[in-house]
Amino acid sequence: MLDVNKIRADFPILSQKVNGKALVYFDNGATSQKPQVVIDAISKYYQEINANIHRGVHTLSQLATDAYEISRGKLQNHINAKFPHEVLFTSGTTHGINLVANGFASILKPGDEILVSAMEHHSNIVPWQMLCEKTGAILRVIPMNLDGELIMSEYDKLLSDKTKIVTVNHISNALGTVNPIKYMIDKAHEAGAAILIDGAQAVPHLKPDVQELNCDFYVFSGHKICGPTGVGILYGKEAWLNKLPPYQGGGEMIKEVTFEKTTYAELPHKFEAGTPNIAGGIVLGTAVDYMNEVGFDNIQQQELELLEYGTKRLLEIEGLKIFGTAAAKTSVISFNIEGIHPYDIGTIIDKLGIAVRTGHHCAQPIMDFFKIPGTIRASFAFYNTIEEIDVMVEAIKKAKVMLS
Ligand code: ALA
Repeated sequence: MLDVNKIRADFPILSQKVNGKALVYFDNGATSQKPQVVIDAISKYYQEINANIHRGVHTLSQLATDAYEISRGKLQNHINAKFPHEVLFTSGTTHGINLVANGFASILKPGDEILVSAMEHHSNIVPWQMLCEKTGAILRVIPMNLDGELIMSEYDKLLSDKTKIVTVNHISNALGTVNPIKYMIDKAHEAGAAILIDGAQAVPHLKPDVQELNCDFYVFSGHKICGPTGVGILYGKEAWLNKLPPYQGGGEMIKEVTFEKTTYAELPHKFEAGTPNIAGGIVLGTAVDYMNEVGFDNIQQQELELLEYGTKRLLEIEGLKIFGTAAAKTSVISFNIEGIHPYDIGTIIDKLGIAVRTGHHCAQPIMDFFKIPGTIRASFAFYNTIEEIDVMVEAIKKAKVMLS
């Protein structure tokens, strides 16, 4: 059992007041809060070892390089990648997806097909649309039902020998649906297609095993798992990363440069041009250590309790409708109250210290599907409590009275 009060003491921001009220932070889908150990690791890096990596023989450069590569190893273990060079540091999920989409420009031909799901974040739609414009490939959409579940029989029908890549989130940021990615990966491979999993919303709740999943690419951001912003991971199978061309040209990604011809460095450096977010990369390892110490079983147990209790309490409010009622769901509740705009609720409850996200959640096609302008989204983390849910429910009731 998780001692939530003990965990909360690790996060200095959680004892802060916002608008004169105790902060209730339910915007974890957007970014997680950071434990003291992560905040300290950032200072320690700049105070003690700041230097550029993979470049100098001097001591600090070697210390920084070692710390960066140790962190890569931690991430490799965390997701169970076969090799450390299959784990690329990126600036975040968006960067990872763009890198892969850009690489596929050299593979796709006019008439080839890319499958995306109906519940993707814009960052897993737009790069593929740009790729279609560049190559003449066609974007096809795997539909969902009214519970916010992808329809697997339709997915099966969409797959064909024209499908070159499938790209789907592990967990929907706007609905909380956990998608059946193992099934989707196996089916994509049967059709001869590659598959990318957007794990941005999954990694805060579970530990993906990329070898067991057998996905070709798995991308996520560090800032949603207690790490800093501006750093993320792209896992790619060695064979795929060798096949894709580099995304950016620059320092450190080359073997040899002359004005006539440049040859590229081995993995992972081929995809890591320029000075990276060194502190971010190192501290992401600290964040992953922290999450593992808390334990993903404990995290899931606490979040499931929050999801069940939150759903029950919110549904007591008359006129409240939840969007995303999949059988497999994580601790995200998206909802609206009849006749009231989500922004109005969000603005009023912010005055009461409660942070939720309101709007389309960078997933406009989902809002179009449900014919709504947006939702109020409460997304819980393991450091949230049942009492905080009570505070939110009372605040929403108050806001509803004010706005009715
Ligand atoms: N993608 C993040 C969210 O869902 C920012 O809020």
